[in-house]
Amino acid sequence: MRRAVCPGSFDPVTNGHIDIVSRASLLFDEVVVAVGVNKSKSRLFSAEERIEMLTRACEGFPNVRVDGFSGLLTTFCQDNDVIAIVKGLRAVSDFDYELQMAQMNSSLAEIETVFVPTSPEYSFLASSLVKEVAMFGGDVSGLIPDFVNEALTTRLAEQRG
Ligand code: PNS
Repeated sequence: MRRAVCPGSFDPVTNGHIDIVSRASLLFDEVVVAVGVNKSKSRLFSAEERIEMLTRACEGFPNVRVDGFSGLLTTFCQDNDVIAIVKGLRAVSDFDYELQMAQMNSSLAEIETVFVPTSPEYSFLASSLVKEVAMFGGDVSGLIPDFVNEALTTRLAEQRG
């Protein structure tokens, strides 16, 4: 069983994330989408909400499951017999930090990082930008699943009060 992890904060999941997860699911026997639940970072959606949305977004992939983790990613990998971390690379600007994390992670545990180039149609896509555009009333349909768009609209309206 060759198991990989797709880690991230997924606040919220985008079509770019789903593209990477779907391609990882073709490369490995099993993929665990691991949602970082670091409580010190403020998020628009709670860990439970992010896990729920990802579970729904990934329900078409039979060898993908979703889990949450706190603490080190390498500890999660060791505890779950994960052999590889899969990360999407959107642009060269992603590479510096991703390389640093990959090398740190491989110094902490015997774990390989596999970089998957983001599909060109998603190369500009980031959860933070989706939130910003939606906050100012921009159209983000087509960038996130419809049910995520609805949850985002509702949450932003709640925040506006
Ligand atoms: O979507 P993000 O914010 O880029 O996800 C970052 C994440 C959660 C993958 C990364 O911050 C992480 O691995 N956090 C767990 C803590 C850890 O292992 N830190 C050392 C990284 S070298």
